[in-house]
Amino acid sequence: MENLNFFKRKSLELDKNDSLNNFRNYFYSESDLIYFDGNSLGRLPKSTIDETNEVIRNQWGRDLIQSWNKHWFKLINDTTIHLSEMFQCNPSEVFVGESTSNNLYKVIDSLAQTKKFNTIITDSLNFPSDIYIIEEICSRNNLRFEFLKYNNDIECEIDRLKNTIQNNPNSIISLSLVSYKSSYCYPYRALNELCEKNNCELVWDLSHAAGALNLNLKKDKFSFAVGCTYKFLNGGPGSPAFIFVSKEKIKSINSTIRGWFGHSKPFDFNLKYEQSDSMEKFRSGTPHILSLSTLPSSLSITNEASIKNIDTKRILMIKYFSEMFDNLLVNRGFTYESPNHSEIGSHISISHNESWRICKSLLKPKSGNKFIVDYRPDRFLRIAITPLYSSYHDLYLFVERLMIIIDKNEYLMHDNSKNIVP
Ligand SMILES: Cc1ncc(COP(=O)(O)O)c(C=O)c1O
Repeated sequence: MENLNFFKRKSLELDKNDSLNNFRNYFYSESDLIYFDGNSLGRLPKSTIDETNEVIRNQWGRDLIQSWNKHWFKLINDTTIHLSEMFQCNPSEVFVGESTSNNLYKVIDSLAQTKKFNTIITDSLNFPSDIYIIEEICSRNNLRFEFLKYNNDIECEIDRLKNTIQNNPNSIISLSLVSYKSSYCYPYRALNELCEKNNCELVWDLSHAAGALNLNLKKDKFSFAVGCTYKFLNGGPGSPAFIFVSKEKIKSINSTIRGWFGHSKPFDFNLKYEQSDSMEKFRSGTPHILSLSTLPSSLSITNEASIKNIDTKRILMIKYFSEMFDNLLVNRGFTYESPNHSEIGSHISISHNESWRICKSLLKPKSGNKFIVDYRPDRFLRIAITPLYSSYHDLYLFVERLMIIIDKNEYLMHDNSKNIVP
């Protein structure tokens, strides 16, 4: 068994050798707050503060409508370039805008309208919003809804999923690549290949993977994906989501929401709808300029660090945390809920009989650092591993704090009442 001191020394050593250590300076932070929210909302890039001011004061305030020509049309292009660099795909395969739920609806409903599919398959690890949308599309289009409810909320029963795909050719499959609760990560390349062989289309939700995992959408044969930019990509609350469609498939679907911005010539104001043949077909209305305008510089932090380096540090941080967990937290009543570290995304889910009150104690220390983690019912504490702004020493301090909360029964000072967000 290693003790706390061993891990303290190790954290300092790991931070000294960390090539991404300086990237935390790109982000705004309060000195006594250590942020492991897992990961519903990434930190605020300092560049966002000045850019927001510029967009509001000068672009909206001074240049008004002329800002469309001067700044705002170009923004869409800049954002897709950054995202495509990270996803190792073509900018013409990426759409940026609207919300993940909205985008998932548009992509799956567009596939349903091709009439090539008879079933939509999803599973119980998927995000609730995605499940609601799929069920609704099935009932409107008379498609079979095949819902795989697993025996636990941690891991996919992968053989069952594969058999279901094999037994249901001509299906649409919708999965979250990294599960929001347990962090389980699907064997995405194998599933993409299996779907291709079975005439199925797999639509991935990359919300918990984008900006965290080194995904090569071309090499790993992705056809359709959606996701958000407010988690590991630090775009800010409600920042625009994205859609990826591989160039071979773009012409095969038409967006089922026919808004004027998805027209091939929106500013001709034709009464007849003619859908754009680019990814812009998915834009139903006016882009959300305020949040879009700060996105290119937030994304450029990820690209400057490189997704490959971020991914490498992610794996090392998970390993470091897992070692501390085994040595210092198991015997304090904690359970490591996430699967083995090679199969997870960029958050770790742990639990305790007193998860909620521990979450409150982390937020309200009598003195010292305050820690923010996520709580997800019924027992999960989600800890985000964010290589851009978290250090190994932050993880060390977090574990040290959890030990104190348990050893000194600090959680007993809190009641079980809950806010919507901790
Ligand atoms: C995996 C996943 N999918 C979809 C959503 C919904 O995203 P939005 O609120 O942008 O529609 C979320 C939100 O957190 C999510 O975590």
